[in-house]
Amino acid sequence: MVYPIINGRWWSLYFDPGIKRRREDLFDREGELLRLNEAVRRGERIVLVTGLRRIGKSSIVSVFLAEWGGRGIMLDLKGLYFEYGSVPKRLFVAELLRAMGEELRNADLLEVLRMLNSGGERAVLALDEAQYLRFSGGFRFDGVLAWAYDNLDNLTIVLTGSEIGMLEDFLRFEDPAAPLYGRTPYELSVGPFDRAMALRFLKEGFAQEGMEVPEGELEEVVDALGGIPGWLTIYGHMRARRGLDHRSAIASVYEEGSRVVMGELERAIQPARRRYLAILRAISLGLGSWSKIKAYAVALTGPITDARFTGLLRRLEKLGFVAKQDDQYVIPDPVIRKAVEILDRA
Ligand SMILES: Nc1ncnc2c1ncn2[C@@H]1O[C@H](COP(=O)(O)OP(=O)(O)OP(=O)(O)O)[C@@H](O)[C@H]1O
Ligand SMILES: [Mg+2]
Repeated sequence: MVYPIINGRWWSLYFDPGIKRRREDLFDREGELLRLNEAVRRGERIVLVTGLRRIGKSSIVSVFLAEWGGRGIMLDLKGLYFEYGSVPKRLFVAELLRAMGEELRNADLLEVLRMLNSGGERAVLALDEAQYLRFSGGFRFDGVLAWAYDNLDNLTIVLTGSEIGMLEDFLRFEDPAAPLYGRTPYELSVGPFDRAMALRFLKEGFAQEGMEVPEGELEEVVDALGGIPGWLTIYGHMRARRGLDHRSAIASVYEEGSRVVMGELERAIQPARRRYLAILRAISLGLGSWSKIKAYAVALTGPITDARFTGLLRRLEKLGFVAKQDDQYVIPDPVIRKAVEILDRA
């Protein structure tokens, strides 16, 4: 990739739409990078990077790795999954060897992980979109992760996934029947920018593009899109580079964003579509308490036991669609709120 050099320095570009790989392109996140660094240095075996969709998980890990002095590898499992429809062990090993610059053929997975572990200095293996490891054609990657956790003291495995509920269902640290049971990953939880930071991000991003945007419009962007860097980045990109006006840029974030989240949302609610939709709708209407949401869901879809209702709500929470703030349920991602609206109308 070619980066523009202006006045003899690398120029930062916050509104580049891909995963950020250089610290200059990553706004803030100093705290997250520091915590990740410390976790690796103190020898955490498994680090789980969690957070809403498009919050910047992959970017943080990839900037960390770019700066990590020791051996570090990042594999994106989504690519493998989409190319082959699964993540077979053989291909995983081949990708790993390729990333390590090793020519070995037919190596065994444990052998390759031992190689990574035995270089003398600490190694980091980052697996992005790690939830796809569950589609391995029967091979138990979770067993290998547990083995690495127990035996490879020089290796930190960093796991990231856009579908965090799926990732947790795959890893099952709390399930006595699962291989990873009882292991304690270090969780790096990545949150949205607060209002002031979101405004600064936009302002600095537009300044990089040589654009000045009225403060009032930036305020509206943050009202509409919240503090999720991925959505703010699309807005900036649409406006600064594709020349859209303010309103159309916001509309296109909703459009593009709901495309990103819709499939996942559809899949999540599919087992009890009407119930889930009623719950999401209640919350998006501003009903925040357990009892109000339940009353709304009952009015719309008929009686439901407390336990069943709580189960549905918990699952939405676990998948990150719903969160609890000051004892009230909310949908923290404005693009999910929009997607719920679209589903509701359909
Ligand atoms: N701190 C930041 N500064 C600049 N751009 C950012 C920042 N965080 C995220 N982005 C941008 O937001 C988008 C989403 O980032 P990224 O892919 O790293 O998030 P993610 O949490 O891994 O998303 P997903 O859940 O879809 O995997 C990218 O376009 C990225 O460039
Ligand atoms: Mg990601």
